[in-house]
Amino acid sequence: MTKNGSYGFATWTSFIEESQIRALLKYNVKYYFAGGKPGIMPTKIFSKILADLSESYAQDPKLALDDLNYGPTGGQSWFLKTLAKRLCDVRNIPIDCDDEWQNVSITNGSQQALYALLDTMIDPGDVIITPSPAYLGFLVPAVKLGARIITIPTDLEGIIPEYVEKAIHVSKIKFGKTPDILYVVPDSDNPKGTTLPMKRRQALYDICENHNILLLEDSAYAEIQFKKNPPPIKTLDKDNLRVAYLGTTSKEAAVLRVGYSVLPASVREQVLKDKGYLDLCTSTLVQRILNEYYSKYIDEAMAKAIPLYRERYEAMAKAIDESFPAGTRTDPTGGFFIWWESEDTSFDSSRFMQEVAIPHDLLYVPGGPFYPISGYTLSDNGNDLIDSKPESNTMRIGFSYASPEIISEGIHRLGELLTKELG
Ligand SMILES: Cc1ncc(COP(=O)(O)O)c(C=O)c1O
Repeated sequence: MTKNGSYGFATWTSFIEESQIRALLKYNVKYYFAGGKPGIMPTKIFSKILADLSESYAQDPKLALDDLNYGPTGGQSWFLKTLAKRLCDVRNIPIDCDDEWQNVSITNGSQQALYALLDTMIDPGDVIITPSPAYLGFLVPAVKLGARIITIPTDLEGIIPEYVEKAIHVSKIKFGKTPDILYVVPDSDNPKGTTLPMKRRQALYDICENHNILLLEDSAYAEIQFKKNPPPIKTLDKDNLRVAYLGTTSKEAAVLRVGYSVLPASVREQVLKDKGYLDLCTSTLVQRILNEYYSKYIDEAMAKAIPLYRERYEAMAKAIDESFPAGTRTDPTGGFFIWWESEDTSFDSSRFMQEVAIPHDLLYVPGGPFYPISGYTLSDNGNDLIDSKPESNTMRIGFSYASPEIISEGIHRLGELLTKELG
């Protein structure tokens, strides 16, 4: 340390900024369309679970002592069995839920699984493929760890597999490396809200099989679906060798910081080794609460929540169509977000938010942070890589948190302001 108190921080601190979504949390606005906060929470169910648990602990101090204690790094067996059953019954994940529940593990949010997975797979210079745009909670740690990111064009059905194939080819020529990871959010992606059709799921799986790439399937929004989606890519991975499947309790239960995953055995071993040093274990009490929720209440809670989320989505889509200037929006069939792109490519949604939207009590997430701060994209002819650039004329607008009335009012207000700005 020097006398003026400036410490010698690690190199990454100079080029990685605070998460843009975290930074937006400091604003307290009336029209909140920013972070992916669940707005429909089964609070009555959780208060019943907590009351029942409190009773059980009063009667059984040994249970209380165990639940208030350290536990296994990858999760308590009783909770993993409950999660395995849901993954088999509802999502058709190909594990035998009676005999193979050990294939399930938990982390401190699926964010920790993303981080630990990158931490254990990536050396500086390794290559990762993501959609363009992609979830910033994956992109930023990947850049921090020194990965070279190749972003792949997307359309209204998500990432386009033929470009993935091309990117692998170019990566081999340009970097002398096959990519290590392909990252996708197949059901109602963050940020675009798009859903991959089965044909693309199969194509991506086949590409990863052919090139020996780990397919990271982030299913954060899989339970918040307004219609039946194609099965998870993980269903194709009968031997649990190719697909790292991540889920989270955050969107379908409560933000108690628990993610769950089914990882190929060798990957699971490394990820849990990392987790052991990151947090030792996940809170047992929190696992107990969630175990009650997943074994008794989730169906009832989701049956109530999904139509309410759908109403919010419909209110937002209608208000955008009625009030926004020329541009395009995605048409999600689930999840929490709509992605809007202005026809005017010179529009800067980040500047507009600071100068216009926030002073009018409005918050969304500008599109820029969903592109890597440094990375590559395919050139027009698909035979080379060029530096990737953020598309700053875009924004992610979240419908999960506000009521349909507030959404309608706020989006009309945003539409008027955008129209004034863009003509
Ligand atoms: C696609 C995606 N993955 C992972 C996460 C992290 O979720 P959590 O850490 O709450 O499980 C989020 C949160 O918004 C997300 O949108």
